Amino acid sequence: MKMLVVGSGGREHALVWKIAQSPRVKKIYCAPGSAGIARQAECVDISVGDIPSLARFAAKESIDLTVVGPEAPLAAGIVDEFRKSGIPIFGPDRRAAEIESSKSFAKGLMRVNSIPTAAYWVFDEYNQLESFLKGTKYPVVLKADGLAAGKGVAICGDRDQAMALGHAMMTEKVFGEAGRRVVVEEFMTGQEVSIIALVAGDAVAVLEPSQDHKQANDGDEGPNTGGMGAYSPVPAVTEPVWQRIERDIIIPTVHGMNREERPYFGALYFGLMLTPAGPQVLEYNCRFGDPETQPLMMRLETDLVDLLEASLKGTLGDSALSWHDGASICVVLASGGYPGSYKKGLPITGIEEADEMEDVVVFHAGTTKSDDQWRTAGGRVVGVTARGSGIADARDRAYEAVKKIAFEGMRYRTDIGAKALI
Ligand code: AMP
Ligand code: GLY
Repeated sequence: MKMLVVGSGGREHALVWKIAQSPRVKKIYCAPGSAGIARQAECVDISVGDIPSLARFAAKESIDLTVVGPEAPLAAGIVDEFRKSGIPIFGPDRRAAEIESSKSFAKGLMRVNSIPTAAYWVFDEYNQLESFLKGTKYPVVLKADGLAAGKGVAICGDRDQAMALGHAMMTEKVFGEAGRRVVVEEFMTGQEVSIIALVAGDAVAVLEPSQDHKQANDGDEGPNTGGMGAYSPVPAVTEPVWQRIERDIIIPTVHGMNREERPYFGALYFGLMLTPAGPQVLEYNCRFGDPETQPLMMRLETDLVDLLEASLKGTLGDSALSWHDGASICVVLASGGYPGSYKKGLPITGIEEADEMEDVVVFHAGTTKSDDQWRTAGGRVVGVTARGSGIADARDRAYEAVKKIAFEGMRYRTDIGAKALI
């Protein structure tokens, strides 16, 4: 088979790495890919936003299956475009992708289907938001309705902060059109967990739980980032919690999408909070998680290509997933200054040495290579991912590998997976 992966980050590297292990795959392309991804795939210089060129490339090369990493091309209708031309692609169409690209659609879906989530209010006019904020209890969570690259959400501790942010979103348009409508949510507490399901209409294959670490600093302090590390499985998801998630959240979401006449095909990500009242949905994403995909692909034993193909053929429901015993963990090494501004082009040492360790893979998120020298090229630079007999073992191994890598200003969290060991 010939495969095409769309994207260039750590998540796409993990997908490419896993796909490359399938004996059925003869050739993998990645658009645009990266120097790290180039070890397993031929990189094609087409950006993720250039949907017509991606479709032309897939048609010309007779790609058997395309997998899309990031949300933006899905929200922009890449799946609709490929389907129009009869090119096989794994992902939701534009209307189904609204489960991520419109928070008000997602909240409405949850309300109609009684899916547990925080209470919420939707505002299209700033003066209505302002009068609501004058009368509500704090903290509250403010969310831009549309896609804002993970930056459109803030927990506001008081009225002044909430009003300033609401004004910035709705009047000053700091997130452009994405912030024209604002969703206010009740504040929830608890551990967060990520569940990714492969979905094809009614059929669902749920991957094992994982946990992201969104804040920049140890102890969940500091600003939100794209994710500083992840591990799987998550001991906080006990068997009864798992059953509730499946019965009260996953199944009603999938059925709800069918009833909306937006049947879901592709990876569906449930960002959950395990609150004292049970698991509640924080958000949906219309794609695989980043960095959750890195530890998940290291643990998944089943051939990913078989699963993706079963989704397209309508046989996903028969799929049995098998996993390597133990656990896996990914520690993200970020540029100094991330998620704010940071330098690029700094030389990196030790990547090969870390990669050579047993059961360790360095997934590249933002690197370049020239004259045999790796250099930084993004906020999140690499995700050092290790598998072990359990979380403690995987963690020791990952941090041992991290010690081999260095670049100026390199920073990372030292407590990835720590919650699982309490
Ligand atoms: P979202 O993009 O909607 O997942 O929000 C990003 C992050 O903000 C989440 O991962 C949570 O850490 C936090 N968050 C979002 N909604 C809430 C909420 N209702 N209560 C508490 N924290 C929240
Ligand atoms: N890890 C969070 C996300 O993929 O959105």
